[in-house]
Amino acid sequence: MNQQVTKARHVAIIMDGNGRWAKKRHLPRAVGHQRGVEAVRVLVRAARQMGLEALTLYAFSTENWRRPEEEVSALMGLLKRYILADLREFIDNNVRLRIIGNYKELSADIVDLLEDALTRTASNDGTTLVVALNYGSQDEIARAAAKASAKGAITPAAIEAELDTAGLPPLDLLIRTSGEVRLSNFLLWQAAYAEMWFTDVLWPDFTPGHLEQALTEFETRERRYGGR
Ligand code: IPE
Ligand code: IPE
Ligand code: MG
Repeated sequence: MNQQVTKARHVAIIMDGNGRWAKKRHLPRAVGHQRGVEAVRVLVRAARQMGLEALTLYAFSTENWRRPEEEVSALMGLLKRYILADLREFIDNNVRLRIIGNYKELSADIVDLLEDALTRTASNDGTTLVVALNYGSQDEIARAAAKASAKGAITPAAIEAELDTAGLPPLDLLIRTSGEVRLSNFLLWQAAYAEMWFTDVLWPDFTPGHLEQALTEFETRERRYGGR
């Protein structure tokens, strides 16, 4: 077999299944989300140790506002606590934070916290942790197209340059947990030629071992980009 092994530079994950994880254990959904944050913490460390260039995590979608207010505020609280608790670790370990999505529509205290974290990690050049917050791909593409149009012609390259992900390495691998096989408005543009990896594992049970498994399978995939 004359196949060249290419390593993934940019992996994105739809972290799904917190609710079902909790339900199986007769626990409140919020506990599932809490355990989901633990899985994030461990995975970010692993991604950094593996030397991944970018890890993009879908944390809150433009559609997740449809959930009961109590759940939305639990998720926002967890986000806040995660950034507060782990910012020092990002700074000390050369992790750069980036946010995609319309995060400025979140509450003012969260926006301030995020912007402080963005500034304080801006010169780091290790792994970029990209958190998708109030993110919807359709919203992102519409915003990018409007900006491209204001500057001139709407071409794919002009739109791409205005996407929230501009400047990140191309998306190599898209993972979704919990057995659902759909994109749920995540990275629709960027996934054009990404490889996909789906697992039944619920997000709180996802470990660095699962990421390694996905990356190993990625290396066996032949990417043709429409050519031959
Ligand atoms: C993913 O878990 C977390 C977010 C979408 C914020 P879910 O809350 O969607 O869990 P399920 O899909 O109900 O199991
Ligand atoms: C996608 O999961 C959004 C995040 C993981 C943040 P959802 O649970 O919201 O997706 P659907 O509703 O099952 O498509
Ligand atoms: Mg879900």
